[in-house]
Amino acid sequence: MGKVILTGDRPTGKLHLGHYIGSLRRRVELQNAGDFDKMFVFMADVQALTDNAENPEKIRQNIIEVALDYLSVGLDPTKCTLFIQSQIPEIAELTTFFMNLISVSRVQRNPTVKTEIKMRNFEANIPMGFFSYPVSQAADIAAFKATTVPAGEDQEPMLEVAREIVRRFNTIYAPVLVEPNIMLPENVTARRLPGTDGKEKMSKSLGNCIYLSDDADTVWSKVRGMYTDPTHLNVSDPGHVEGNAVFTYLDAFSTDEDFAEFWPEFANLDELKAAYTAGGIGDMKCKKLLNNVLNKMLDPIRARRHEFEQDIPEIYNILRKGSDAARETAAQTMAEVKAAMQINYFDDAELIRSQAERFKKD
Ligand code: TRP
Repeated sequence: MGKVILTGDRPTGKLHLGHYIGSLRRRVELQNAGDFDKMFVFMADVQALTDNAENPEKIRQNIIEVALDYLSVGLDPTKCTLFIQSQIPEIAELTTFFMNLISVSRVQRNPTVKTEIKMRNFEANIPMGFFSYPVSQAADIAAFKATTVPAGEDQEPMLEVAREIVRRFNTIYAPVLVEPNIMLPENVTARRLPGTDGKEKMSKSLGNCIYLSDDADTVWSKVRGMYTDPTHLNVSDPGHVEGNAVFTYLDAFSTDEDFAEFWPEFANLDELKAAYTAGGIGDMKCKKLLNNVLNKMLDPIRARRHEFEQDIPEIYNILRKGSDAARETAAQTMAEVKAAMQINYFDDAELIRSQAERFKKD
């Protein structure tokens, strides 16, 4: 069996640098390496609705934002299938069957869901759909027989649930589904980008994001205001690079070529770090470097975004075509699932014949 890549995002907001370094850049590399049989990238709007039931407009608005982000970073609909989860009813169907293959207490132990319940103050009142989204996420993955799911560490518990359900399905019925593996970001800086305020995580709710769609002025004002080293008061003071968001971002995004282009006094980031630590390097200069590095990376993304914005109906068209193609794959899996579960009554000539036999009166 071939390699099938599948991954997605909840369309609850525009995508930011944390998404880019944590997953989008990798997806584009995977797409362009072509080392797979199929690649699916989707917007998990059904999952987004599990904690946004009263706010469907938010999801509806963000579908196009995320689609523009996908296309502008270089996901290419001729190389991978871009689709919208809600347009694939087979996923909902598979979720229903999966519900029987896992216990409530097993889902309750999921640490990511536990954290999310706390963050949303859902303790006393968890929507059923939100509680069970790991099961529906298992169906997202299994419906496409995905072998490989590029995702962050927080998705590990989801993948465990998916593997358990698939294993149970294959044992009880027939081995038609595929156990997926998670593909984590390659390096540590990619796993969790801090916010511009230095807080642990870049996140829309914390208001500390640099968005892929931010223009150059916006990026500069955010970079200028970034958290650095609170003990680095004068340029001549020794600075600290650990916990200094500017340096964390430089770790994540800068290359040696960037130094040649923007700050040739240093050959690479290690040299700059050594000089900063020794004292004599001002934060503003580091921020200017970071601003140049980010804009160099974001400029081609902005240019593509601008192109795609000229024809929004075409983007819906791309998503429609992708959803149609995805649905064909999912329908094929569901036919196998139903045959394995022996609920394909009308396609089972042998069943109909034998039942007729049983009721025959001589
Ligand atoms: N839970 C993922 C997130 O919050 C989104 C998601 C839904 C997903 N279904 C998926 C990711 C299947 C990978 C595979 O970002």
